[in-house]
Amino acid sequence: MLTFQPIKISNLSLKNRIVMPPMCMYSSDDSGFVNEFHKVHYISRAIGGVGLIIQEATSVEKRGRISENDLGIWEDDQVEGLKELVSGIKKHDSKVAIQLAHAGRKCGVKNEDIISCSPINFNDDYKVAREMTIDDIKTVVESFKLAAIRALEADYDALEIHAAHGYLIHQFLSPITNHRSDEYGGSLTNRVKLLKEILISVHQVWPNDRPIILRVSASDYVKDGIDVYMMKDIINQIKDLIDIVHVSSGGLVLAHINIFPGYQVKFAEYLKIETGLPTIAVGLITNIEQVEEILGNNRADLVALGRELLRNPNWVLNNANSSDVKIQYPPQYLRAYK
Ligand SMILES: Cc1cc2nc3c(=O)[nH]c(=O)nc-3n(C[C@H](O)[C@H](O)[C@H](O)COP(=O)(O)O)c2cc1C
Repeated sequence: MLTFQPIKISNLSLKNRIVMPPMCMYSSDDSGFVNEFHKVHYISRAIGGVGLIIQEATSVEKRGRISENDLGIWEDDQVEGLKELVSGIKKHDSKVAIQLAHAGRKCGVKNEDIISCSPINFNDDYKVAREMTIDDIKTVVESFKLAAIRALEADYDALEIHAAHGYLIHQFLSPITNHRSDEYGGSLTNRVKLLKEILISVHQVWPNDRPIILRVSASDYVKDGIDVYMMKDIINQIKDLIDIVHVSSGGLVLAHINIFPGYQVKFAEYLKIETGLPTIAVGLITNIEQVEEILGNNRADLVALGRELLRNPNWVLNNANSSDVKIQYPPQYLRAYK
């Protein structure tokens, strides 16, 4: 079955096509450090056979956190815990990426400096952001680079840059939230400039053989916002700087989204064709028939199961077993599988 077939993207060899997408667990504290929960949570999915685990949004700046309990990679002291987590995951033959994130105006931490491209709040529960100066932009670009240096020290197999769900990079990309009149606003090329600078600075320190994944929201679901056609143009401006596109949607502003099984797969399929890059499909994918359909029709290269892997950490093992596919089960669990 395609689900259990290995794949190599750039120099990353995955044993199957199942990805755990980034999911914030809000389980750290103000230090942003990894703790026992994170280790148990992620290593359980590695034992459960997931091919690629993408660690939750991990903030590159203290003011880039979504909450007081986010994981962080904004200082050197945070590397040790991340390193232990990575090595624990790798012992079980899964590959692991880290999602580097900055919340921008969606930072919900009290008394933080809330920054964005333009002084607009997400909604009344959030403070109005301070419009970023050029120096602020340079600091953020540098913090992604420093985070990439730390991620390499922790030995992640891949990096995911969070440019989706209405967080800082997405705020710059969308004409709905970016009202700047300088070189970072206005035209599509200008709105892409922050993302491009981040990718270029990350490339200066991140080895070419470890893939860079870009997580995008392919639609803002509002008039004049990003749609999948605009997202294609955005990606095509920076496609030499990334290896994989992880295709989600929404999160920029409150909007009505029609949700049904596999509702974002069409975006992954379109962007795969139009950019020529491998894609990860995600969003209400729960069963093996859906995964086989997506892979068999070449609509995406990898498939991420989010909430399903929270419910069922052994999804890969269980589905291989019920489909009579021979995979490497953890030796400790062999008696549970036929
Ligand atoms: C608890 C939770 C936390 C999430 N945190 C993140 C995150 O840190 N970064 C991100 O890009 N997406 C995040 N997401 C979105 C998921 O990665 C995924 O795209 C979404 O859950 C849809 O997939 P699913 O229907 O398989 O759950 C989160 C989703 C959940 C349920």
